[in-house]
Amino acid sequence: MYDVARIRTDFPILSRQVHGKPLVYLDNGASAQKPRAVIDAVTRAYEHDYANVHRGLHTLSTIATEAYEAVRGKVARFLGAGEDEIVFTTGSTEGINMVSYAWAAPRLHPGDEIVLSLMEHHANIVPWHFLRERQGVVLKWVAPEADGSLPAEKVLEAVGPRTRLIAVTHMSNVLGTRVDVGAICRGARARGVPVLVDGSQGAVHAPVNVAEIGCDFYAITGHKLYGPSGSGAIFIARDRLAEMRPFLGGGDMIREVTCDSVTYAEGYARMEAGTPGIVQQIGFGAALDYLGALGMGNVAAHEADLRDYALARFAGLNWLHLQGTAPGKGAIFSLTIDGAAHAHDISTILDQCGIAVRAGTHCAMPLLTHLGLTATARASFGLYNTRAEVDALVSGLELCHDLLG
Ligand SMILES: Cc1ncc(COP(=O)(O)O)c(C=O)c1O
Repeated sequence: MYDVARIRTDFPILSRQVHGKPLVYLDNGASAQKPRAVIDAVTRAYEHDYANVHRGLHTLSTIATEAYEAVRGKVARFLGAGEDEIVFTTGSTEGINMVSYAWAAPRLHPGDEIVLSLMEHHANIVPWHFLRERQGVVLKWVAPEADGSLPAEKVLEAVGPRTRLIAVTHMSNVLGTRVDVGAICRGARARGVPVLVDGSQGAVHAPVNVAEIGCDFYAITGHKLYGPSGSGAIFIARDRLAEMRPFLGGGDMIREVTCDSVTYAEGYARMEAGTPGIVQQIGFGAALDYLGALGMGNVAAHEADLRDYALARFAGLNWLHLQGTAPGKGAIFSLTIDGAAHAHDISTILDQCGIAVRAGTHCAMPLLTHLGLTATARASFGLYNTRAEVDALVSGLELCHDLLG
């Protein structure tokens, strides 16, 4: 039984007020709040067990290294991957840049193509623009349908003889669309094209298994998964990892360095240079434990209920426009109001009601341009949100309409 009232007590920040009103936190798409278990794990690591990892034989270094490396197994189990296929990162942005720099850049030539959807976050666009600017790689864009869905066939139709990679989101951070990345991967595999999935949102709202999806790369970011900012990982399939050149150079990623030569560590270690986010990753591990105890299937069912309830409430508001109505979408709602000058006004009024939403282009300018919009107000729900908070949002939107519409 999913007891959301009890779950909320795990998140200290949810009991605070904003402008004298109870906080209604609906900006989970940008970053999620942290449960006590994560805060405690971070505090404990700093208070009791802190030292650098992989570098010392002394007790604290050994404890810190074991705690840090244990997270690799937790991420692997969370994603259905092998431990040797998990590279730690500071988040999805670093993971996708790593693939662009260390895997794609050395193997792509002028005229080679990367297929992208128009729904991508800038983190899954700009690293590919680098290759367009620097090496003449061609970006091929696939637009979503009018309801925001992205049929796998449409993505696969864009694949040609020069396609070297498909880079696609698992879930749009603007429209909430969930993409059938498994179908894309099956088609891509038949054509010999690797697939990178941006799982920044997708992994937060439903169970994920990269082996079932069949992707080559799957990036996640810890702070959206209720862990610390600066934590994250990317799944890189063994064959692809073996094809990668080193990413950043420095300590830990080498086997031997002389004045004239350098040889590199094998596997994921080759991609992880320097002192990592030790405590951030330990906190991320605690977040994954927390999600594991709740069960991602239960989280998904709870959020589906919030989505259905919100859609039913929005349906009564004929001045409210929702971008993205694809079947099975997640509880992310990009909204505009007739007559409201700018989404920033909506966000500011909602903030006065204690409601946190995000206004702007959501780091997805090509999508906003495609939709003919300059900004939306985005309410994004998480595992601790409630139907009462949907009601609070609707009341806040009615106030916005009264004042701005
Ligand atoms: C779909 C998507 N991809 C990538 C990112 C980038 O994540 P990070 O900034 O944590 O690297 C985000 C964050 O908003 C996102 O929503």
